[in-house]
Amino acid sequence: MLSLPPLSLYIHIPWCVQKCPYCDFNSHALKGEIDELSYIKHLLTDLDADIKQFNVQRPLHSIFIGGGTPSLFSASAIKLLLSEVLTRFPSSEDIEITLEANPGTVEADKFKGFSEAGVNRLSIGVQSFASDKLIKLGRIHDSAQALKAVEIAKTCGVTSFNIDLMHGLENQTVAHALDDLQQAIALQPKHISWYQLTIEPNTAFYSKPPELPVDDILWEIQQQGFKLLAAAGYQQYEISAFSKGQQFQSKHNINYWQNGDYLGIGCGAHGKITDPRAKKIYRTVKVKHPKGYMDEQRLHLDHLNEVTNNERPFEYMLNRLRLFKTFTGSDFEQATGLNISIITDSLITAKNKNFLTENNGNWQVTAHGHRYLNDLLELFI
Ligand SMILES: C[S@@+](CC[C@H](N)C(=O)[O-])C[C@H]1O[C@@H](n2cnc3c(N)ncnc32)[C@H](O)[C@@H]1O
Ligand code: SF4
Repeated sequence: MLSLPPLSLYIHIPWCVQKCPYCDFNSHALKGEIDELSYIKHLLTDLDADIKQFNVQRPLHSIFIGGGTPSLFSASAIKLLLSEVLTRFPSSEDIEITLEANPGTVEADKFKGFSEAGVNRLSIGVQSFASDKLIKLGRIHDSAQALKAVEIAKTCGVTSFNIDLMHGLENQTVAHALDDLQQAIALQPKHISWYQLTIEPNTAFYSKPPELPVDDILWEIQQQGFKLLAAAGYQQYEISAFSKGQQFQSKHNINYWQNGDYLGIGCGAHGKITDPRAKKIYRTVKVKHPKGYMDEQRLHLDHLNEVTNNERPFEYMLNRLRLFKTFTGSDFEQATGLNISIITDSLITAKNKNFLTENNGNWQVTAHGHRYLNDLLELFI
């Protein structure tokens, strides 16, 4: 039976100081000043339209202000935005509110202001502590600024912070990658996101690819990095996510991966929302470019699609198999409204290929399954 999952809210801020050559997120180099108030007005109109269209009357489980570079916004703008957003939902205890911050845009007063505005988790985009790597990545900060951002995060009033790091960088050796991780661990974040650099179409790195480490080195970086993180007390709960215990896992991301609902507001934001009475699941995509999004003559909603019964098993697995946590047939049925029997053959094939294990009806992805995730997912198309 399709049931109503937790509801999150994603808010997209589409501007950055400059565009990083590896980045395919919907972000635009800032030209001039941001008209914060005007953008917030659009975000709220966008949100009101979603609330009305999907008759949303539930409390929020989490909010994620992502980008782009949300830390370019002033603390007063974030305060206005959050206070307006929160009045539109029944109050919720324990709501996680994350804001992404770039170390090149950090001041102590600003972080304190974000915390006072209600942000209780910061996600800091450090990427690397090595100067040559930061330059190659086109970052606007050096490692001293990254360290300063972390120091400010520790005292500004937020409950916890995450450090984003990338590995598999140009000319990176195993020792270099582990050194980055060691430096991050020494700062004692409760959460580390450790991503392997991917070369995405429509990026500067795609047109002029950097010389990346060979596969054997990439594999070694990963295996030794996992060991280092585990030895330092970080549990891997997703392909790239590590936390000091369950309490510091990202509630927002877990809700995505467990196929929860989320409204997505702002330029190019994606949303997914369930209507259990009509037995329907919808996906929304908002107008991508800031100019179009802020055009008074246009709606913010660009696409609205229903997720068909045929698409649901793959969609479920695409998200759910990122997590190491087990899932049951009943989890699948509640999220998709479909009977587990329609994927039994695929589950058994996945088990026979050592992609999944099963224990009393609890299914879990194996390390081998994560390594060959695309092959595993193909079983559910
Ligand atoms: C939306 S970005 C935003 C964070 C913030 N704008 C910043 O860069 O500091 C989220 C994270 O995704 C990771 N990321 C972005 N592009 C990537 C790529 N091509 N390969 C691997 N990780 C990437 C980076 O670690 C980045 O911090
Ligand atoms: S600062 Fe972050 S969002 Fe902006 S271009 Fe760089 S990686 Fe992308």
